[in-house]
Amino acid sequence: MKRLVLRDLSKTYFDPYAGAHVTAVQEVSLEVQQGEFVSIVGPSGCGKTTLLNMIAGFIPASGGEILLDGRAVDGPGPERGVVFQSFALFPWKTVLDNVAFGPKIRGLSKAECERIAREYLALAGLAHAADRYPNELSGGMQQRVGVVRALANNPDVLLMDEPFASVDAQTRMTLQEELTRIWQERRPTIIFITHDVGEAVFLANRVVVLSKGRILKEIAVPLPRPRAWDLLTEDAAFKALSGQVLQLVRSA
Ligand SMILES: Nc1ncnc2c1ncn2[C@@H]1O[C@H](COP(=O)(O)OP(=O)(O)O)[C@@H](O)[C@H]1O
Ligand SMILES: [Mg+2]
Repeated sequence: MKRLVLRDLSKTYFDPYAGAHVTAVQEVSLEVQQGEFVSIVGPSGCGKTTLLNMIAGFIPASGGEILLDGRAVDGPGPERGVVFQSFALFPWKTVLDNVAFGPKIRGLSKAECERIAREYLALAGLAHAADRYPNELSGGMQQRVGVVRALANNPDVLLMDEPFASVDAQTRMTLQEELTRIWQERRPTIIFITHDVGEAVFLANRVVVLSKGRILKEIAVPLPRPRAWDLLTEDAAFKALSGQVLQLVRSA
């Protein structure tokens, strides 16, 4: 089944400083199957966030359409979860209550919300942090809670915009490994945006290279799973794919 379909999607902004229109996304067409993990990579300013915000329904498209299971997307919806680089956990709620928030909004019972929250926290190795408050966690742990909070809503599609960009390199590798593991267990559809080529290849089944608002190329990533940095760093196929994507991004 075709899960998410973008057809000739475009976005033009008016830039008041230049007094002119800027085309941020230009006739992008993409099909993402249910359970796929797609990375979208490209240099800063190539339209990644604009594309994601349209799929999330935060901003309207200027042209084209977005279909989720054949239905046009117009506005945000719980079937599309979003994780940003800087997102806000509720500082006055415990980790458990932060993660239980989505299920609670969906009207599930208190016991069911707590069960779901604990299940997802355990999945991300955060069971021990359930009763802590966000300001008692490291940046990496907060980011992990953000991912888990989005997953606990059981979204059809998880949209992630450079979610690990602000954590240190070691934590980032751990988060990447964790995300691939969770994806393998639960198989949500994930669209992951990044400017980091290694991250894009490490995570995805398919890498889409974006250049000046257009799709430059799509590259399949047939690397085996589970994926771990210890194994992949020196892996010839991983290096070749990363090199290929890097070249495209640099030419973008
Ligand atoms: N709200 C806006 N108003 C005007 N121009 C914008 C706006 N948001 C983004 N842009 C422009 O659109 C282009 C794409 O931006 P963006 O989607 O943020 O790219 P990326 O996430 O790849 O860095 C850039 O040229 C940016 O300056
Ligand atoms: Mg961006």
